[in-house]
Amino acid sequence: MSDTSTARRPSDAPATLDEIRTYWDHFLHDQEMSKAEIGSNQWFTDLAAYRYDKLDYLPKVVDFQAYRGKQVLEVGCGIGLDLARFAAGGAEVTGIDLSPRAVELAQKHLAQQKASGRVLMMNAEAMKFPDASFDVVYAHGAVQYTMDPQRMASEIYRVLKPGGQAIFMLYHRDSWLMAMTKVTKVGLEHVDAPAFRTFSQAEARALLKAFKQVKIVPERFPVATKLHRGWKATLYNGVFVPGFNGLPRAITRQWGWHLMIWATK
Ligand SMILES: C[S@@+](CC[C@H](N)C(=O)[O-])C[C@H]1O[C@@H](n2cnc3c(N)ncnc32)[C@H](O)[C@@H]1O
Repeated sequence: MSDTSTARRPSDAPATLDEIRTYWDHFLHDQEMSKAEIGSNQWFTDLAAYRYDKLDYLPKVVDFQAYRGKQVLEVGCGIGLDLARFAAGGAEVTGIDLSPRAVELAQKHLAQQKASGRVLMMNAEAMKFPDASFDVVYAHGAVQYTMDPQRMASEIYRVLKPGGQAIFMLYHRDSWLMAMTKVTKVGLEHVDAPAFRTFSQAEARALLKAFKQVKIVPERFPVATKLHRGWKATLYNGVFVPGFNGLPRAITRQWGWHLMIWATK
């Protein structure tokens, strides 16, 4: 039980980019998982450990080492943990984010890792890059938090080279986490983000209809929560997590919370 909420804004009014920027400037993703000084080496180390434990699937399905010499753009890069891994693998990286604080921290992280790359404050719904600039565009947990997902998806398509690949992670509406939230009424992180969406697989395909080829694999199955306390968390960690993961993945696969998507232009 972590990640974010299934709820829309209370008013259901469309979010503005300013609201989105202000929110993510204030709430860095997973920032509460380290007591170290924000931006210190230790803080990034703690957050990376938390991230790749919670998202244990991610380094298995995204080979950060596989893009040596390629132009890789990360959209909504946050504090740049994945971006630094692409850079460490030899990719020529560009990260963009709406939040100036995230941009500053991602720049700091690249510098601490002695990795080269640029991180820019930019709206991914209207990028300043020419058409066909990148071999790969990576957008993990970004499209679902923007004002207009279709505009962001179309911009990602535009800046990709022909034959280039986009890698997305979208939240899956028909997932174990959505079901669990309804049953337990446990609030999830970023419930109050100004823009938030979940997608069915059909909606994800519709969003990416411009791409030549789209492969969707549901991932992100239950891992023990480090965020919650109390009897619900004990029950969740002790019973639900091992019980769910004890079932054959062939059965549970369709209920994954993260839709990992590989889309070829
Ligand atoms: C949930 S965080 C994800 C951060 C990181 N990709 C990760 O996986 O941890 C969402 C990020 O998307 C950024 N974002 C949302 N809309 C954006 C837009 N239109 N342009 C650029 N960044 C955007 C937010 O500022 C925030 O940093």
